[in-house]
Amino acid sequence: MKRQQMRSLVMALMLTTALPTAAAHAQAATASASKPWMNPKLSADQRADLIVAQMTQDEKLTLVFGYFGSNQEKPKFTPHAEARMGSAGYIPGIARLGVPPQWETDAGVGVATQRESSDPYLERTSLPSGIATAATWNPDLAFKGGAMIGSEARSSGFNVQLAGGVNLARDPRNGRNFEYGGEDPLLAGVMVGAQIRGIQSNNIISTIKHWALNGQETNRMTVSSNIADAAARQSDFLAFELAIEQSQPGSVMCAYNRINSVYACESDWLMNEVLKKDWGYKGYVMSDWGATHSTAKAANAGLDQESAYTFDKEPFFGAPLKAAVADGSVPQARLDDMAKRITRSMFAHGLFDHPVVKGPIDFAAHAKVTQADAEEAIVLLKNDGGLLPIAKSAKKIVVIGSHSDVGVLSGGGSSQVFPIGGMAVKGLGPKGFPGPIVYHPNSPLKALQARNPGAQFVYDDGSDPAAAAKAAAGADLVIVFAHQWAAESQDYSLTLADNQDAVIDAVASANAKTAVVLETGGAVLMPWLSKVGAVVEAWFPGANGGEAVARVLTGEVNPSGRLPVTFPASADQLPRPVIDGDNSKPELMVDANYDIEGAAVGYKWFDKKGHQPLFAFGHGLSYSTFGYSDLKTSVAGDTLTVSFKVTNTGKAAGKDVPQVYVGPKGASNWEAPRRLGGFKKVDLAPGASTTVSVSVDPRLLATFDSKAKTWNIAAGAYEVSLGASSRDLGAKADVTLAAKTLPVSYDGK
Ligand code: BGC
Repeated sequence: MKRQQMRSLVMALMLTTALPTAAAHAQAATASASKPWMNPKLSADQRADLIVAQMTQDEKLTLVFGYFGSNQEKPKFTPHAEARMGSAGYIPGIARLGVPPQWETDAGVGVATQRESSDPYLERTSLPSGIATAATWNPDLAFKGGAMIGSEARSSGFNVQLAGGVNLARDPRNGRNFEYGGEDPLLAGVMVGAQIRGIQSNNIISTIKHWALNGQETNRMTVSSNIADAAARQSDFLAFELAIEQSQPGSVMCAYNRINSVYACESDWLMNEVLKKDWGYKGYVMSDWGATHSTAKAANAGLDQESAYTFDKEPFFGAPLKAAVADGSVPQARLDDMAKRITRSMFAHGLFDHPVVKGPIDFAAHAKVTQADAEEAIVLLKNDGGLLPIAKSAKKIVVIGSHSDVGVLSGGGSSQVFPIGGMAVKGLGPKGFPGPIVYHPNSPLKALQARNPGAQFVYDDGSDPAAAAKAAAGADLVIVFAHQWAAESQDYSLTLADNQDAVIDAVASANAKTAVVLETGGAVLMPWLSKVGAVVEAWFPGANGGEAVARVLTGEVNPSGRLPVTFPASADQLPRPVIDGDNSKPELMVDANYDIEGAAVGYKWFDKKGHQPLFAFGHGLSYSTFGYSDLKTSVAGDTLTVSFKVTNTGKAAGKDVPQVYVGPKGASNWEAPRRLGGFKKVDLAPGASTTVSVSVDPRLLATFDSKAKTWNIAAGAYEVSLGASSRDLGAKADVTLAAKTLPVSYDGK
């Protein structure tokens, strides 16, 4: 049965079921002499050891075997009393021992509902897409957003949120880049780590994913991401490593794809070696939905929990695992470890001590959280002649396209959060997964009108270039909204769909005072760029995106987003000009050669190759200007510290993101000339200055030696550059580093 059909059937059955209360489990979990693991003074490890010691074999097996939001076993689709409506997954508890069930929900922008187009859904607050939050370069906002969606998960009865997507944007066409944190391991690790900390501040588990190298959606169930150990550790793995050490996620989700020909959820290298041994990760690994392919092989490689088994070809961790332990092909100690890891995370993240209880949600307060995120995420890419902010004198403003009269676009698939107040446009996109296309009912046009009561607004739907151009002619300002829907299970084209390039071109030809606002999951090509006055990247801006866009366009908010990904000038500049595979043949065993770029992901590849991007990583304009001075470096022990002064040299208050890049001088074995070493978001009144100090993680100055399993800093001269993007580097300083070796277990401390 196809994933979408199954989801629909399970949904329908679940709706007929009375929802359970958490009270029964809370009661069962009360501390007593017979339940010493309920003593919160003990460590999570001690508590897990105590409880696992009391478990029967079947109870251990219960913990490692997941359902798709409902018990589908006897008969196959009988709803389970404990499952939660429309949820991603469910693992029964053990009432006898006070182990609560695991109620799992997607994902990174809020509480998502698994549904088909006609199913009912939960209405919850949606953050801007993950790439948008990364574009804020503001970890505090990522934390607050995480805390907000985690609180909605908790109040909706979920204690495991499948959020924390940190796959690097190796290919700008990856259909899920919108869920992730961009192309740089430091930025992605810091931002996604902050979001996970926020989610887990609600006493629930967050699940970092998709481990690892899930770099494209084309043939995602079969593609093999082929890459050498050192290159992986210096790029995609490093993003996970940084996020994990900053947030201690309770769980890690292994990915659909293969790596060097081995399925991620069967990879001893990924799960046992890198994650659990080298990094000392103590939580559990759950499979992605349909990513388990075996029993003994997967369990022995380090998979701790089979998720939603009906997505797999057969159940692997139910009866087959029991048999495998019985015949010794999976050691008893391995099953005990699986049970320990799962309960340890449940203890460590409050699932026992603070059972989830459904409760009211303060949607008004949460709207402010998502709007604040969106406002700092929006990137002003181009602004010739100060076309923006909208001039007070503008009397006639023409707004075109992308349903901007009613809403803002969101990304599709399992992470889809359905809007409070319903979808602004109905009937768009695929009827089944990963559809529908959802517009949040928060209209940029209406938000603009409310802020410019004196101006006349004209709306054109942008379906016809000639009609749009006619509407645009003679206006004081034209704002074209252009969009590119992105969704799980498919990659997307860098060329705007639905003839939008022709519309923008025709409009800009008719009126040079044209600003383009992009609602995309990442980079797109802009053949009309030289003709338009301004370009704004709004990403998928979330539930209050219309307000956020309007506030930036009017200047109520000074834009301060910076690109977390490179915008290429053409697909020819990419390591793989054409994506490997063919999505119409899902069984195709495809290879994606990531050794081409190795660790030189995104701007590093562009720097190495000398390609001129359309817009560089880190780029973003402001309605003000900022100056940098007094660049200083110091080295103490392992740590390079860089300090400098930032001054708001313009007339508007605003935020800036000074960026520090580091690279060896002369010949080196680095993957690229330089890496992002640090950054800081600052908020400055006109004329004001502040001194910033950033410490560079020594791993960002090192290369990984796979044989010795060490991070090695080579002795010699390094260049520290301070700038406003990877391609706008001003002051430079030279620094000499001594040779240094750090163990693979180095975790920043
Ligand atoms: C996605 C995961 C998601 C899971 C549960 C999978 O298709 O890859 O990111 O958490 O479904 O919905």
